[in-house]
Amino acid sequence: MPRTPETASRDRSAVRSLLRLWPYVRPVRTRLFTAAFVAVLASCTGLVIPLVLKWMVDGPVADRDTTGVWLGALCLLLLGFAEALLFGLRRWLVARPLSHVEAEMRTDLYARLQRLPVAFHDRWASGQLLSRATADLGLLRMFLAFPLTFLLVNSVTILLGVVIMLLQDWRLGLVILGPAVPVVVMCVYFENRYAVVARRAQDQAGDLTTVVEESVLGIRIIKGFGRHRSQARAFRELSSTLRGTELRKARLLATIWAVIVTLPEVAIGAALVLGSVRVADGELSAGTLVAFLSTALALRWPVDSIGFLLAMSQEAATATERYFEVMDEPPEEPDGDRGGRAPVVDGGLRFDGVTFRYPDASPDSPPTLDGVDLHIRPGESMALVGATGSGKTTLTALVPRLHEVTAGRITLDGEDITALSREELRSRVAVAFEEPTLFSASVGENVLMGAADGAGAVELERALDVAQADFAHALPQGVETQVGEQGLSLSGGQRQRLALARAVVGRPRFLVLDDPLSALDVHTEAAVEAALRQVLADTTALIVAHRPSTVLLADRVALLSDGRVTAVGTHHELLRSNAEYAHLMSGEPSVSRFESPLRTTYGSTHGTTFETRSGEQEADRR
Ligand SMILES: Nc1ncnc2c1ncn2[C@@H]1O[C@H](COP(=O)(O)OP(=O)(O)OP(=O)(O)O)[C@@H](O)[C@H]1O
Ligand SMILES: [Mg+2]
Repeated sequence: MPRTPETASRDRSAVRSLLRLWPYVRPVRTRLFTAAFVAVLASCTGLVIPLVLKWMVDGPVADRDTTGVWLGALCLLLLGFAEALLFGLRRWLVARPLSHVEAEMRTDLYARLQRLPVAFHDRWASGQLLSRATADLGLLRMFLAFPLTFLLVNSVTILLGVVIMLLQDWRLGLVILGPAVPVVVMCVYFENRYAVVARRAQDQAGDLTTVVEESVLGIRIIKGFGRHRSQARAFRELSSTLRGTELRKARLLATIWAVIVTLPEVAIGAALVLGSVRVADGELSAGTLVAFLSTALALRWPVDSIGFLLAMSQEAATATERYFEVMDEPPEEPDGDRGGRAPVVDGGLRFDGVTFRYPDASPDSPPTLDGVDLHIRPGESMALVGATGSGKTTLTALVPRLHEVTAGRITLDGEDITALSREELRSRVAVAFEEPTLFSASVGENVLMGAADGAGAVELERALDVAQADFAHALPQGVETQVGEQGLSLSGGQRQRLALARAVVGRPRFLVLDDPLSALDVHTEAAVEAALRQVLADTTALIVAHRPSTVLLADRVALLSDGRVTAVGTHHELLRSNAEYAHLMSGEPSVSRFESPLRTTYGSTHGTTFETRSGEQEADRR
């Protein structure tokens, strides 16, 4: 799980976090520095205005010289123009490079998410990742565009302004500087408090994104079970928590703002009174007082804005941390890191003492797979049978290295899978999982995803044929029909057949199918099996099966029980010799310690499951 705000904010430094942005900022540094320089210049131009005023008051105004006054006014106008132009130029300079930085960071994050192991995605809520890729990166762009420059510009302006004021009159200068110490102390205090709340708000926004995402994806379940009220309540609670956190942020910001605005204002008032007295006493020229006060007023905005600039910087620091929390996650182990290639002793797919424990499982729980030994000969198809939760899906996920084995090894034609590059491994092994996922693309594109680049209509036809997915041609635009998230919805059985077509389209040497036919009616299943048998003739296959009809597709069957393969043989052998297997296949009510294998009964007793009923609806019915 993502770290909690409290632990995250301990021993952190906003500056250190923000410095990590440097590699992304580096390529655009010239423009950014130029923009900052232009902004400083613009600010300094603003500071010249009080000096012109002083000259006007003490000179032409005192001497009643109208031409001089007009000249002064023209000067002021030009200075004002120059300031506005320079600030405009700054904006133009930063816009393009900063959208580049944001895009680069987002691309890197996306690439990293693709390369992170499945175990990472099991652990992280998708909403947290979504909010990091969108809201947090937006915050960072804002920070680079605004607070980063203006913290620098304002500091320079304040420093220069203070020097100018001290030079005008050091006594009045000290009066103005009086509140500096309490303001700085307040800022430090505020920053620490704000960091904690900002982090909490961003995490809560991530949680909220997760709820929205889940309820959009699970809308059928929510409606089907009439859970929209409780779902709405959950959302309301989270959103009011977030609102509370945002309000705390606002309160903190209001407090600091009050301090930052009030204290300097009081100081300016005091300087005005003191200055007027001294002008009356003849110790100070009226022009100096005017220049002094207008400098002080010119510094109001730079000082006032420090509060929210600091707040934005804190949020940006938090966003950077959240960004790098994902980027720092170790990607999948590099290829070929576990010793050299084993000599080719025998072909096929072999599991040697394969033990696996999920990374987030408690260390004292038994491993999910505990020393699995299994050999599937070249060209052989092996069915994998076991009670629900016995680890079949887990075992199939190890072959394409979606998870790494904890101990033992898996070999393809004698080669350790960890010695193969992932690309090579995944081109040899094709998979279809329990939940057939289709992407927002056309039917054809979804299927051809399983083939090498360059595969075309011929391969597509063959694969659709094997998977008995001719329905694709009857869709509104045939195989060009858009399916998935933004396209036509297909039935569970149709999706399964497309997923199967995707698995076989590349003519893989090794095929791993996790219960690929569960949503099909028996007739379609029989047709798929007949076609699949031809494919399987020269393919080494591991097929997870729940119903006898699927098991019969395979040459042999392996029984997975308590994390081990406890029996291997043909269906009929095992039916005779193995009580657990016979029980799993019989569909009789569970009397033993074995969990009832739901789908087994389904296949044999409800012979006519129509494919139009989606897998999900089936699940609900049960
Ligand atoms: N990502 C995960 N993290 C931790 N434990 C998991 C994870 N996925 C599965 N498990 C656990 O591993 C065990 C085996 O799960 P698996 O999905 O392999 O079972 P299965 O044999 O495929 O079951 P089914 O027949 O219902 O599909 C289960 O006890 C499950 O709780
Ligand atoms: Mg499974």
